[in-house]
Amino acid sequence: MSENFKAILINQKEKDFTREVKTIDKSFLKHGDVLVKVDYSSLNYKDALILKNGARLVKEFPHIPGIDFSGKVVESENSNYKSGDEVILTGWRVGEIYYGGYSQYAKVNADFLVKKPENISTKQAMILGTAGFTALQCSFATKTAREELLLGKKVEDVIVTGASGGVGSIAVMILNKLGCNVTAVTSKESNKEYLKSIGAKNIINTADLNKEPRPLDKGLWDGAVDTVGGQILSNVLAQTKENGIVAACGNAVDIKLNTTVMPFIIRGVKLWGINSVNASTKRRQFLWNEASKLIDFEKLNQSIKTIGLEELLDIYSKMLKGETSGRYIVDLNK
Ligand SMILES: NC(=O)c1ccc[n+]([C@@H]2O[C@H](COP(=O)([O-])OP(=O)(O)OC[C@H]3O[C@@H](n4cnc5c(N)ncnc54)[C@H](OP(=O)(O)O)[C@@H]3O)[C@@H](O)[C@H]2O)c1
Repeated sequence: MSENFKAILINQKEKDFTREVKTIDKSFLKHGDVLVKVDYSSLNYKDALILKNGARLVKEFPHIPGIDFSGKVVESENSNYKSGDEVILTGWRVGEIYYGGYSQYAKVNADFLVKKPENISTKQAMILGTAGFTALQCSFATKTAREELLLGKKVEDVIVTGASGGVGSIAVMILNKLGCNVTAVTSKESNKEYLKSIGAKNIINTADLNKEPRPLDKGLWDGAVDTVGGQILSNVLAQTKENGIVAACGNAVDIKLNTTVMPFIIRGVKLWGINSVNASTKRRQFLWNEASKLIDFEKLNQSIKTIGLEELLDIYSKMLKGETSGRYIVDLNK
């Protein structure tokens, strides 16, 4: 490898945070036992928060952000990986307490990596990234957990909130592919046609669910994927039918949840929290292997923007204002 390479460094001086693309030296990478030449990373909501001010997740500065990446192993001190292996990393607090993927090289603990399935490319792996991996977890919780684990009725009508975001749009596609009638909730009128093209049957405006929830509402959904939290999640819970599973992964609207016990004790609704960060390696390998069967990358490509490190410095703040849609992937060779 070359001794010098490009990475984003975020820094804190008293209350001020800075972020810039810098040329750094290999000796800067101090964690882990596997060195990866990064092909792609991606922009997730958590990345945007970290780029703004470390999001209280980053404890030491200067720091290299980027919570996911894909690439090729170039050096390994671990017997499970050898030079040339193609790998994917999401979660495990990489990009938070360990240096992340907004860098042409990343060094991480071998236990954090999964081997990339042969039927997807490193680019496709980051088209999914943390958002896609989380959408896979949410969709399996909503659909497969109820049908197979709890031996419940077939899951047909499902709702996905924050539908034009990274997690939401991929969940729309997966649940449609799994045979569900997907209702997508979005605040962006302009994304209706796109959401239909990737598998949404119906579209609801976010404003229709952003109201004071009733303890129980008319049951409409066999299951749900919620990426936004707040009142929208409260209303989704109140509208979920008997024994439905609501997979909650996000807080783009609010971290608060104002609900009652009624959906849980009258309808047996289950609120299933999703945490992609610490998912087991076995679960990760299973879900990544499922990805190629459930994702139509050609369709998803319409909403993918490929950017370089410099462009990332502009776009993250738009994501925090809810002004972005679809996925941004970061090409480390751009
Ligand atoms: N638990 C986990 O392991 C995990 C993993 C990944 C992500 N997450 C969380 O999941 C959420 C989504 O992540 P993402 O990467 O998909 O983010 P994203 O691409 O920014 O998508 C979020 C979507 O939520 C909607 N939204 C955002 N701000 C809103 C607002 N103020 N009011 C109403 N709707 C709003 C928008 O959808 P519309 O434009 O369609 O309205 C937006 O596209 C985030 O909270 C993230 O932290 C959690």
